[in-house]
Amino acid sequence: MHSRSSRVSFLSLELDGIAMKVGVPKETFPGDARVALIPQSVSALEKAGVEVILENGAGADAGFSDAAYQEKGGRIVPDCQTVFKEADFIALIRAGGANPEAGAAHVGMLREGQLLMAFLEPLAAPDAMQQLAATKASVFAMELMPRITRAQSMDALSSMATVSGYMAVVLAAERLPKFFPMFMTAAGTISPAKVFVLGAGVAGLQAISTARRLGAVVEAYDVRPAVKEQVESLGARFVELELETADSEDAGGYAKDQSEDFKRRQQELMADHIRASDVVITTALVPGAKAPVLVPGLVVEGMRPGSVIVDLAAEKGGNCEPTKAGEIVLQKGVSIIGPVNLGASLPTHASQMYSTNMTTFLQHLISDGAITLDLEDEITKGSLMAHGGKVVHPAVLETLGAGQGGGAA
Ligand code: NAI
Repeated sequence: MHSRSSRVSFLSLELDGIAMKVGVPKETFPGDARVALIPQSVSALEKAGVEVILENGAGADAGFSDAAYQEKGGRIVPDCQTVFKEADFIALIRAGGANPEAGAAHVGMLREGQLLMAFLEPLAAPDAMQQLAATKASVFAMELMPRITRAQSMDALSSMATVSGYMAVVLAAERLPKFFPMFMTAAGTISPAKVFVLGAGVAGLQAISTARRLGAVVEAYDVRPAVKEQVESLGARFVELELETADSEDAGGYAKDQSEDFKRRQQELMADHIRASDVVITTALVPGAKAPVLVPGLVVEGMRPGSVIVDLAAEKGGNCEPTKAGEIVLQKGVSIIGPVNLGASLPTHASQMYSTNMTTFLQHLISDGAITLDLEDEITKGSLMAHGGKVVHPAVLETLGAGQGGGAA
């Protein structure tokens, strides 16, 4: 049992008789057609005593009309100002550091005691985290969701990584001047494409399984040896390199940053595998650090002309030296695709998955008809970035640097 003092209750249905309100503004990040809640979630939340209010047209670009929301009990309001004014909890996909320019207006509308949950880029944009904290709203970062079994259904990073991993293969297949599967035709035998996936986390595993479904021969490498079994269970070969990787994983399941010497040795050992591949998909990320460079420019030049690299780490600096975020670079006939915001590229299903993650999180917070912040709960505490006017998450405080005014609550 948790002590009463560790709980901060914001609203009580019993006391005021007003249903808790979750507000969904229309996303403002350029080109992002996703929406934080879909109509199906509106009815699920209604059952938990929550009313959902949406900005007019919030889901339209993702394929969800205002009428579809109204049918499930959602209320449409004319503008985002009304959403922010009325709602107790704001559900967004991108806010703070994840939407620094277009999203600034949303931050300006947050008020004391209100709750917000969204992707925020909490470790990459410390100044934006302080601005959010200064609103005195309680702000949750999707990226900080703990990697524990109980939180799996709330983990939107995994949902978006699933979209990205799938799309990486679709982009590669579209660009590659070859088939993916093996064909035996009257015009001869076509050999299957060789795909090498670097980084076998959620996105990498999805890329492996999509490439396998398309009939490619797939190899994969990850610095965490624990993923070997998962890679093999998807029908791919796990590439073993002569590197010391026993200490490669942190307590949260993420990869640790490696030494420069390790990275150089890894590049050398992987070069032959990369040169022999038609498609290389790189997904290697280390939270809070720049993405490791796994594919140097010289190795790219050794690949066959027509080969394709899809660099899913493009937004975090890239795993491939020549990568430019948001562009396709052509180097000695090799295409290096550096997609950005790939999670948004399938807006209907990306929204559906995000909406489920958000709804499960809301259901987790709601008890006895009120939102309760149990600051001893691993999920609530782990994803809470700011509370009571201060940045409270240890990892974010660390990026702000001791004594910079983050201050633990
Ligand atoms: P990520 O997006 O942070 O990184 C992608 C992959 O790149 C990781 O597998 C990482 O080990 C790898 N990587 C990093 N540096 C590398 C290097 N130098 N060379 C090769 N590979 C490198 O990771 P993601 O997808 O978020 O998953 C991390 C782990 O967390 C996985 O084991 C995943 O299954 C687990 N997870 C657990 C959840 C839960 O229990 N709720 C939810 C989501 C993920």
